[in-house]
Amino acid sequence: MGKRPKISVIGAGRVGEHVALFCAIKELGDVVLYDIVENMPQGKALDLYQTMPLGGWDSKIYGTNDYADIADSDIVVITAGFPRKPGMSRDDLLKANADIVKTAAENVAKYAPNSFVIVVTNPLDAMTQLAWHVTGFPKNRVMGQAGNLDSARFCAFISMELNVSVRDVQALVLGGHGDDMVPLPKYTVVNGVTVDQLIPQDRLQALIERTRFGGGEIVKLLGYSAYYAPALATVKMVEAILKDQKSLQACAALCEGEYGINGVYCGVPCILGAGGVEKIVEIQLTKEEVEALQASAGRVKGLVDQLKEFGYIK
Ligand code: APR
Repeated sequence: MGKRPKISVIGAGRVGEHVALFCAIKELGDVVLYDIVENMPQGKALDLYQTMPLGGWDSKIYGTNDYADIADSDIVVITAGFPRKPGMSRDDLLKANADIVKTAAENVAKYAPNSFVIVVTNPLDAMTQLAWHVTGFPKNRVMGQAGNLDSARFCAFISMELNVSVRDVQALVLGGHGDDMVPLPKYTVVNGVTVDQLIPQDRLQALIERTRFGGGEIVKLLGYSAYYAPALATVKMVEAILKDQKSLQACAALCEGEYGINGVYCGVPCILGAGGVEKIVEIQLTKEEVEALQASAGRVKGLVDQLKEFGYIK
């Protein structure tokens, strides 16, 4: 057996601490929790470490304010950044979070040059592209979490609507992690039965809309953005890579011609395994779906162009 995997989480806020918790509960490896705020990650890590004996979970969690402690991580999750407040779009966070993600990515390249990087900070697709650019890592090692979350939200709404077990529902949502994401009803099933056979068209459309604005709905209720589902959606990717699951998950990956999208990170179905994003799977889409996906990628490109304008990406 090799050494225990090391998972580092940059940003020990709501999403980061729950990524650490879920990784530890699932015993995926030992976790380092980094934050810029002094003492906070150390405090949270101690509390998490002390949770482990209660559950009988064999994981260790350390907190730090020193990037050197992420040395030789197998996986680094970047959650550092500002979350949305009511009335804000994810794109409103672009410049503030670009500074934070750039610094994080520079340190990942320095201390954990062989790691896989999963970005969670919004605006997701543009921040993932920035991390890829700054680390200089190959595209298979840098990816963003969004599709899993958007798909889980769609699953949850379908389960509520039909009063069926969440276990029975599988959904696929592609596109950028914005209000123009592309839920795919024909790939969304309840134990193999496509939802369009179970839910009338107008209701299905309403659920699709609710999914698109699923993040915003929570921001409005809470005053800050969601974290339980975003965290576990991320840990699903960590698990797929560490266990070489060859798991098909929607995640932000660099498209180079797939779906007619070129040079932009966007939510697409990927095979996640020991090689990170081992493959982007090209599934059959209608003309309208492809157009919606390309439009969504076009909006990501707009943000990436802004990053170029501001000098973050050359
Ligand atoms: N370096 C490291 N950590 C930082 C830095 C920095 N330069 N700047 C801020 N942070 C930390 C904050 O101290 C905070 O602990 O990032 C953490 C962010 O946590 P929260 O404010 O709780 O935000 P969270 O809900 O976790 O969301 C983080 O994920 O889903 C996205 O839109 C969300 O971009 C946001 C990110």
